[in-house]
Amino acid sequence: MSRPDNDTFLRALLRQPVDYTPVWLMRQAGRYLPEYCETRRRAGSFLSLCKTPSLACEVTMQPLARYNLDAAILFSDILTVPDAMGLGLYFAEGEGPKFERPLRQEWEIRELAAPDPAVHLRYVMDAVVEIRRALANSVPLIGFSGSPFTLACYMVEGGGSDDFRTVKTMLYDRPDLLHRILDVTTTAVTDYLNAQIESGAQAVMIFDTWGGALSHAAYREFSLAYMERVVGSLHRVRDGERVPSIVFTKGGGQWLEAIADIGVDAIGLDWTTDLGEARRRVGDRVALQGNMDPMALFASGDALASEARRIIDGYGAGTGHVFNLGHGISQFTPPDNVSTLVQTVHQHSRRL
Ligand code: CP3
Repeated sequence: MSRPDNDTFLRALLRQPVDYTPVWLMRQAGRYLPEYCETRRRAGSFLSLCKTPSLACEVTMQPLARYNLDAAILFSDILTVPDAMGLGLYFAEGEGPKFERPLRQEWEIRELAAPDPAVHLRYVMDAVVEIRRALANSVPLIGFSGSPFTLACYMVEGGGSDDFRTVKTMLYDRPDLLHRILDVTTTAVTDYLNAQIESGAQAVMIFDTWGGALSHAAYREFSLAYMERVVGSLHRVRDGERVPSIVFTKGGGQWLEAIADIGVDAIGLDWTTDLGEARRRVGDRVALQGNMDPMALFASGDALASEARRIIDGYGAGTGHVFNLGHGISQFTPPDNVSTLVQTVHQHSRRL
């Protein structure tokens, strides 16, 4: 297997010369696409969609059939890892993800073990292989995982949370227990990402969705330190090609220098950080991915295009920028606006 025909995304992540700014969107396969809703209906549920490799492959390819995107992302969810650890993931209609057995008791935490991805997450590896075959070297495939801390939030809270009261109580009262969860989860995430790389993922992204909810000191101790361990243990080269890594801490704009120090190739930014200033702060140490407000996709064509151009101009000339949203695309997004966005990014950046 060689480099994809369109390797612009990989080149931008490695800060090699590019002809234009590559673009993909977080959650690009999802409910805003009618064809996704149709496949999901056939699967019966979101989880069976994730756990059936042929259907996961089908929905991964859907946004690529519509738009001229520069990368595909594995269709799955970050919570498959705690599910494989035995916590029992389910989705209550309209309530988001939940666990049947959240981690609360000390003995449960002591017994927690990292799953073998080749066994317990086999369906993900099968999906990666199938997607690579379907892509036929057109664009690169991104693999991903949640960060250890973000996964721990769901594992301890038992689902989403507004204030993270349970996991933060543990952080302040029994940091030893939270460190134990993070230690095991770090091994799980590392093994999981390396298994995806060995199965064919050509770049990997770590979603630290809740790292930004931590205090300045706690972010380093409970989130960044564990991502540093993951990044330091990733397989950097597969089939003679570099496999770049991206870390996305939502709300992490004030910690860019510290994130750049952990050895990642790129940092994902949400829309609250100025891209040009971020570039000046990290220099040529890492590439940057982001960071349009997902709500800009609801604006009329001209307003949307001018916001996309503002972001591209804000980064400025030269390589090292991957255009993306600052968080996942909304399920209410008009699909035609995504065409406008992708075309604008390509056309405008070629002119720079
Ligand atoms: O980016 C992609 O296209 C790849 C697929 C992907 C999904 N989830 C599909 C999904 C990725 C990378 C994720 C990551 C994920 N999942 C995160 C981190 C990124 C982020 O968004 O902050 C988190 C926190 C989760 C956990 C999760 N999964 C939540 C909170 C929800 C419910 C949210 C909602 O919109 O209802 C999910 C479900 C989910 N994951 C959906 C999709 C397409 C919607 C499921 C459906 O079809 O009903």
